[in-house]
Amino acid sequence: MLIRRKPDIPSSEITDEKVYWNRRAFIRAAAGAGALALGAPVVNRLVAAAAGGRRDGGGQQGALEDKLNTYEEITTYNNFYEFGTGKGDPAKYAHTLRPRPWTVEVTGEVHRPRVYDIDELLKLFPLEERVYRLRCVEAWSMVIPWEGFPLASLLERVEPTSHARFVEFTTLYDPEQMPGQRRAVLPWPYVEGLRLDEAMHPLTILAAGLYGKVLPNQNGAPLRLVVPWKYGFKSIKSIVRIRLVREQPRTTWNLVAPHEYGFYANVNPDVDHPRWSQKRERRIGELFKRPTLFLNGYADQVAHLYAGMDLRKYF
Ligand code: MTE
Repeated sequence: MLIRRKPDIPSSEITDEKVYWNRRAFIRAAAGAGALALGAPVVNRLVAAAAGGRRDGGGQQGALEDKLNTYEEITTYNNFYEFGTGKGDPAKYAHTLRPRPWTVEVTGEVHRPRVYDIDELLKLFPLEERVYRLRCVEAWSMVIPWEGFPLASLLERVEPTSHARFVEFTTLYDPEQMPGQRRAVLPWPYVEGLRLDEAMHPLTILAAGLYGKVLPNQNGAPLRLVVPWKYGFKSIKSIVRIRLVREQPRTTWNLVAPHEYGFYANVNPDVDHPRWSQKRERRIGELFKRPTLFLNGYADQVAHLYAGMDLRKYF
């Protein structure tokens, strides 16, 4: 694993997780007196309680009990094939991506299609902190403090028609900014999809930051999807288009290897990848593997979406 960080972030600018939590504790203290005097686990729980007051109904509490991965880990161990297939490649090469100016088109089966300038979009929807586990299909995981807003807020604004059943997401296609697109390792641009009810779920966010900072290029600047109960590959990066559609959209990894990567891609320790087990995972920064949780630990919040479905068939 490479430990080089994006060159334009001086190390003095990087919030380490202790400083981050202290800052959070300080902010919460203004609302809930005495938080600073309490121990770190209590502070974490206070943050969880604060999060529970939001629209997700407390869905992130599991991950808030977990230790956060460091900024260094989150930004140097990445999958972003537009910049190479090695885990260290995005941190090394994603500086060629220009996240401003940037537009996101929201279109398809909606009454009010629009092209949003990214800064206009970020003014419309205030960023909230969401601490989520990310479980990669390659059996590693991290815990990441995202800054984002519910995808549902944006979708509600464009008013889906009664025909909208799925949402398709598309990454930028520009081999000049994304040199990896000159090689046919994947069909470009990268595309992903969700069923509309999954997209509207309050745990599903569009992230524009992490650790209280603007999203680094290697993590999908300026805007990426985060769906915490699905394998990481559903979390498409550097989004330029969101399209509401009638039919199940095509998704990149399903196109490449349909028997290995399904449309749903729900984290499931009981459904193995054909070439390896999904029962356990290695948390980046830890030595020993830990058990993988059904729906990545978010089953209480999202299992109802799949009631009556055979998750071996719809993997
Ligand atoms: N989005 C695009 N456009 N291209 C990619 O290669 N990789 C996916 C996902 N989103 C990918 C992408 C995979 S496999 C994972 S595990 C996550 O991004 C990794 O997100 P992270 O690097 O921020 O941890």
